[in-house]
Amino acid sequence: MISQRSVERILDAARIEEVVGDFVNLRKRGANLLGLCPFHTEKTPSFTVSPAKNLFKCFGCGRGGDAIKFLREHEGFSYPETLKFLAAKYQIEIEETEEQRKDDPEEMLKDQLFVVNQYARDYFSKQLFDSEEGRGLGLSYFKERGFRESILKKFDLGFAPTSGSGLTVQAVHDGFRAEILQQAGLCTTGNRDFFRERVMFTIHGLSGKPVAFAGRILGKTAKGPKYINSPETPIYHKSNVLYGLYFARQAIRKEDNCYLVEGYTDVLSLVQSGIENVVASSGTALTPEQIRLIKRFTPNMTILFDGDAAGLNAAMRGLDLVLEQDMNVRVVVLPDGHDPDSYLSALGPEQFLHFLETERKDFILFKTSQLLAQSKNDPVARTKVIKEVVQSIARVPDPIKRGEYTKICAQVLQVEEPLLIAEINKVVATDIQKDRRDKERVERQDATSQNSSGPPLPIQDRKKSVHPPQELDIVRILLTGGHKIIQVGEEQLPVAQYILNELDREVIQEFKSPLLQTIMLECLDLIERQLPVTSDHFLKHEEEEIQHLAIQFHSPDYHYSENWEDRYHIVLHTQRMPEDNFARDAQMALQRFQLHKLDQLCEMNAQRIKEAYEAADEQQYLHYLKFQQELQTLRNAVADQDLNTVILK
Ligand code: CTP
Ligand code: MN
Repeated sequence: MISQRSVERILDAARIEEVVGDFVNLRKRGANLLGLCPFHTEKTPSFTVSPAKNLFKCFGCGRGGDAIKFLREHEGFSYPETLKFLAAKYQIEIEETEEQRKDDPEEMLKDQLFVVNQYARDYFSKQLFDSEEGRGLGLSYFKERGFRESILKKFDLGFAPTSGSGLTVQAVHDGFRAEILQQAGLCTTGNRDFFRERVMFTIHGLSGKPVAFAGRILGKTAKGPKYINSPETPIYHKSNVLYGLYFARQAIRKEDNCYLVEGYTDVLSLVQSGIENVVASSGTALTPEQIRLIKRFTPNMTILFDGDAAGLNAAMRGLDLVLEQDMNVRVVVLPDGHDPDSYLSALGPEQFLHFLETERKDFILFKTSQLLAQSKNDPVARTKVIKEVVQSIARVPDPIKRGEYTKICAQVLQVEEPLLIAEINKVVATDIQKDRRDKERVERQDATSQNSSGPPLPIQDRKKSVHPPQELDIVRILLTGGHKIIQVGEEQLPVAQYILNELDREVIQEFKSPLLQTIMLECLDLIERQLPVTSDHFLKHEEEEIQHLAIQFHSPDYHYSENWEDRYHIVLHTQRMPEDNFARDAQMALQRFQLHKLDQLCEMNAQRIKEAYEAADEQQYLHYLKFQQELQTLRNAVADQDLNTVILK
């Protein structure tokens, strides 16, 4: 047992923000730190860490506690495991005492289950490699399928003999109580072996310990379920486990991508071929816990779907869950009748990997085109498709990413982007309301609960929406190059001033995105007070959301509005990061903004024309018609503007 002195040294050393910071991205917010809760799915951060109190607290799900509690819940560590983890982190040497363990009974049971599972794992393995029946039935089966001994050993595969109670008898002889074998799901209440005449798969927990088993029936013709699995136990919760993750974690980190397949044998096949960043969902829909497990190692996953179209739509619906957790999801559909294992055998590793890399598609785009193809231009079906796509896009927490998807999907679906934006914002707004209600509920409970850990830490509600691209574009320029000096005609002035000279307060007040509007008004304020509009100002902004946006604009992979050319027939001269082209960029952003406004006016006016026509109001009709012509002329003039009147100094 760990000595009391060691325990105290460890507890003294553990800083909540450092411990949590290893797993959660935290940002400073006043005296506290704020991040997305790792225990539940959320879009706006409500997970708060208080260094002063040395505690964490989530206002979304209500979880809270100290560093020990965090590690136990997040990593599934036992108390001693937590202490050892912290000792290693803070380089504290552990003194052990001889004292009798007086752990709580639940921990003792877990330890016993691990030990009995280790025993069973070794038993199954010995049967596979050393017994006559195991070699004849099990090993030859695996070999026939092309699995080499090294992979069988690495993954702790085994064989459960035909005889009724080999494992149970031997384990009891070696001192295990029958009850613990029963609890582990290894034997029945009648003390017969649970797994019989099957090849065995060991399921490992994140630390590599055997938490459960699955037994596959031999051959194709045998009767009975293809797989039987261990029951849920204190050490095995099916929804928290991904098959193969223990072996895949380093490769997933290294490749910064996780392949997700359905079956145990798919994992074995891929790993044997050198594709090691692969895990299996074990044939069930992904759970939020499983997604969070993957997310600890990478934000990118590629899902391999078997080549039967039947389950595809249902499976795709389940994936919104993954988007919600801000994962980048790509999908690959295998040819008809193939699963990863069979297709890999058919192609060989090199071609298979090439296939994965060339065929994988962004999930939202894949879903959009897939559903669209199925709807075959039937308008009712098309409306349903749009609804489905809107649901998916609304799940994406990052507003810029959401905007990109909106743009592309509007094109693919051939609907007006503003319409799609409006639909998505509706869904997002409902989500946020729900989020807020949940939070308020937890806060209320928190305030009344007796063992609450101090007064609630402040959280901030944030509005999220898809930003109209024209607005986003202008703000981007202000936040990245607002202070750059350009020459406009005779005059030299900063980009920000140039832009805000052209857009007055009323126009800004019409901005659809509240966030962007706030930023615009702040720029206007800076200029009116004759202060420079610098990127620094926004990169260090106290409003986290504004700061976040500024950071994203500065990230090298931020790209914007590439379909301007098609939409407005404006040739885009600027490069992706137009550092040295702010003059032209600013001018063009303004131009696009004005064109957009004019287009909206034209649309409104067209509606009036139609109404006047239907009402047979000739005077109004002619009036609006004339106005429409004026708008068109203006629009053309704006589109034809000579863009070389402004130059960078
Ligand atoms: N599964 C299960 N119980 C079943 C069938 C399937 O638990 N009765 C799970 C297993 O985790 C299995 C996965 O679903 O690995 C995928 O099923 P399937 O494709 O049928 O199995 P494979 O693992 O591909 O097995 P094989 O290659 O031998 O067909
Ligand atoms: Mn399969």
